[in-house]
Amino acid sequence: MKDKILMILKNSGDYCSGERISAELNISRAAVWKYIKKLKEDGYEIKSVTNKGYKIISVPDILSGAEIKHGLQTKKIGQNIFYSYEVDSTNNEAKRNNSAPDGSVFIAEMQNGGKGRRGRQWASAAGSGIWMSILLKPDISLESVSKITLVSGMAVCGALRSAGLDAGIKWPNDVVAGGKKLCGILTELSAETDGINYVVTGIGINVNTDDFSAELKEKATSVFLESGKKGNRAEIAKKVLEEFERLYNEFLSGGLEKLIADYKTVCVTLGRQVRVIRPGGEFDAEAVDITSGGELVVEKDGKKITLNSGEVSVRGIYGYV
Ligand code: BTN
Repeated sequence: MKDKILMILKNSGDYCSGERISAELNISRAAVWKYIKKLKEDGYEIKSVTNKGYKIISVPDILSGAEIKHGLQTKKIGQNIFYSYEVDSTNNEAKRNNSAPDGSVFIAEMQNGGKGRRGRQWASAAGSGIWMSILLKPDISLESVSKITLVSGMAVCGALRSAGLDAGIKWPNDVVAGGKKLCGILTELSAETDGINYVVTGIGINVNTDDFSAELKEKATSVFLESGKKGNRAEIAKKVLEEFERLYNEFLSGGLEKLIADYKTVCVTLGRQVRVIRPGGEFDAEAVDITSGGELVVEKDGKKITLNSGEVSVRGIYGYV
């Protein structure tokens, strides 16, 4: 109900009488007042004037469903948003609620057990970034799932670029700016022998982080540190979801060629010296291409090697010199 009142106030853009709200939602004037009070507690500045009603003066920096859904131009992705102030991990939250509709988004202000790739932790302090996971139920092969990670990386990169940031992608899917990591993606799946149950693609974007721990300082950055401006997290999340839906639909309809062509234009790994770290050992090579399946092709001593996953450090990025 609180979100519905918020939507009415946002859509009206001006004063909206308690009478109109109570009639539209079929609740008492006292109930309207109670929810307005709750919105104020959430940080919304709402002015009330006798005979005119209520008007939103300012909006807090929160990632609630109402904030993200207002004006969201998608058909499926983000049409159901599950917001929590604190969770262990939004990926875990999505997995626990996997019966939610396809395209549902699980989002939190903070994660107390944020997960990175390779069992690493993901720092997810309250209010500093966007920690969200999209629950998907695609009818695709197991081998294609890794491409969803690529779609997520491209969606974030596109959203940040449209906001004026010079973002790129370090293969396979770290979004970087100024040689440091801005965003990481962790995709998890549940499958049976006969197919996929669901996929969860988790997106972590450092938006307003103004300082990182000594351990992360060399490698991590944020939208704020790169642009000098505080980012509006709900607006960025909205843009990411819109970009994701566009690219994901393209991917599902088999339009991978264009996707890969676009990926190559923002991939900062291509044409650079890389260090490939594999279980069998490390070697230096040059990154020369991305295949239509999203694999990285490197060249060493005139020989081409195709990598489908793994650790690849890029010279000049994250301290590798
Ligand atoms: C990486 O190591 O680069 C991947 C980081 C992924 C972090 C995001 S934040 C939202 C979602 N929930 C998690 O616990 N992890 C992902």
